[in-house]
Amino acid sequence: MNKQELINTAKTLVRDNKGLLAMDESNPTCNKRFAALGIPQTIDFRRSYREMIITTPGLSECISGVILYDETIRQQKKDGTPFIKAITDLGIIPGIKVDTGAKDMAGHRGEKITEGLDGLRDRLREYLQMGARFAKWRAVIAIGNGIPSRACIEANSHALARYAALCQEAGLVPIVEPEVLMDGKHSLEQCFEVTEDVLRTVFSQLYLQRVTLEGMILKPNMVLPGLACPKQETIEEVADTTVECLLRAVPAAVPGIAFLSGGQSGELASARLNAMNERFKSRLPWALAFSFARAIQQPALEIWHGEETNVSAAQQALYHRANCNRAARNGKYNDEMEKE
Ligand code: 13P
Repeated sequence: MNKQELINTAKTLVRDNKGLLAMDESNPTCNKRFAALGIPQTIDFRRSYREMIITTPGLSECISGVILYDETIRQQKKDGTPFIKAITDLGIIPGIKVDTGAKDMAGHRGEKITEGLDGLRDRLREYLQMGARFAKWRAVIAIGNGIPSRACIEANSHALARYAALCQEAGLVPIVEPEVLMDGKHSLEQCFEVTEDVLRTVFSQLYLQRVTLEGMILKPNMVLPGLACPKQETIEEVADTTVECLLRAVPAAVPGIAFLSGGQSGELASARLNAMNERFKSRLPWALAFSFARAIQQPALEIWHGEETNVSAAQQALYHRANCNRAARNGKYNDEMEKE
């Protein structure tokens, strides 16, 4: 592996106030989102949808890298151009989701363990040859009655670290994503405690597996109250709590932290990221960026609705959300932007 190349790629992914666009929904997840809007759940519609996204005018002004799914990385535009070439030609770095999904964890009701380590070395080699320069693996941690268990946190952190080591060996920057879920009645404080514990465990495992921290990106959740918690803190409280948690648990050697949106609305995700950068940016060791899927795509998906005639309007909506998040990276996002 060329360490310097990994470090350069990781830095490029969080440079110039840009961020990542996650468009790596697995087929079942993509189909579920299509089904909710009555869009046919076929390979052709998934291809057309992804072509709409990557041909959005101005996308590369806001987006440094896109995360693809195995089906998508092998697809082409209608005119025959491979997606990966179209993306690279825009100066956007292509990445690939490489875990094979979060499965029920044996002996641990309500908890999941992410799979995909078997054969991973060979798959990473193939993706690198295809042109991918970074990869993603998502672990999910639920908060509930008696969970998360030590076993769930340790097993998922171990898997994330082994995945990250294999990525760096192959020459791909690992995006390390331990997601503490928003579902539930838990408080902001409970989310803080679990997120700190998970991040500390993840970084201890990354150290054990000899992962170069300068050549990775962390993709965590923001520290939030559960969706069903009666007390919902302000944007500023969420920003302060999230930054406090990250300062405790994320080494300064990591170049960037790119949040997932996790089911927040596009506006809230932008506002919270903005508040963090507005209040703390000049004092933080790492860049605070975004790697959103739903918080960038959802309005565009609803407008597109599977119809060719809606492509341009959908692309404008996608660009708008990406542009709001670019502003949020600099603490320059505000309500006025939503009225434009
Ligand atoms: P959301 O932003 O929709 O949470 O998705 C991010 C992601 O890539 C999940 O793995």
